[in-house]
Amino acid sequence: MTMMGNFVTAYWLTAALSIFQAQSVQVLIERNVMHDEGKRVSRRKALAGISSVGLAALLTACSRNEPTATTTTGTQAPVSPRAEVTPSATALLDKANTCTLTPSTTQGPYYFDADKIRSDIRESRPGTRLELAIQVQDSELCTPVPNAVVELWHCDASGLYSGAEDLSRGAGQAPGGGGGDLEPQDANRYLRGAQVTDAFGRVTFVTIWPGWYRGRTVHIHAMVHIDDNRPLTTQIMFDEAVNAKVLGKAPYNQRRGRDTLNEDDGIFDPMMLMKTEPADDGYKGAIVFAIDSDKDGT
Ligand SMILES: [Fe+2]
Repeated sequence: MTMMGNFVTAYWLTAALSIFQAQSVQVLIERNVMHDEGKRVSRRKALAGISSVGLAALLTACSRNEPTATTTTGTQAPVSPRAEVTPSATALLDKANTCTLTPSTTQGPYYFDADKIRSDIRESRPGTRLELAIQVQDSELCTPVPNAVVELWHCDASGLYSGAEDLSRGAGQAPGGGGGDLEPQDANRYLRGAQVTDAFGRVTFVTIWPGWYRGRTVHIHAMVHIDDNRPLTTQIMFDEAVNAKVLGKAPYNQRRGRDTLNEDDGIFDPMMLMKTEPADDGYKGAIVFAIDSDKDGT
């Protein structure tokens, strides 16, 4: 089923979030050695995973054009127009590259459905404020893609991923050798979230500038869902001159020894660079994700 022209929106999520967030989390003790960005997983597994209800319900409501969605408690929440995107960052979209297929990358070992349908993903994590505007676009038609789900996840200023703090501290190995979506290892969900694109294919997020970890340049993971497909898994990266400015300040400058710049990163692609500009309280940035709507990254 195509999503083009499907303008169902999702205000119900705000009310439903508190329910979704109450899901149980299995706490396991694992140790690993370093982040491994070379893993791919089944989307089916992602949706059927330990905390999949929020995203699955969202995708179902969007794809079926339904007026209500079923929450985890079995109640019906109304589906109504989605929130307006934040204008300041979206203005930057006009300067972003368009209509060229965005490179796909591996999702890395720390993806799981966090059940966090929200725009502000900071949860008070310290760091430089970063307001993001993303537009999903059909690379062949050069038209916006409404009703796509855009997910982001990234590490904090100290290089840790929520739901995987022990793993991302740097000793041991991802569960099951790292293949497949991660089963959350702790109850934290900071710096993870998903939004549904508006009629212009846009979403906005408020987060912090990511930190870094060994072997990788500074990046934000991103995934686009349409219906039950996963047409794009990619990463967002930043100009090194701006990385240097941000990482030179607290709290980022409490860590030393960053070992991988964009030019040394095995995943970096210039098309993954986000256009950024200083803002009063940090930075704002914009990027276009041009997708192949027929592709499923499952
Ligand atoms: Fe990563």
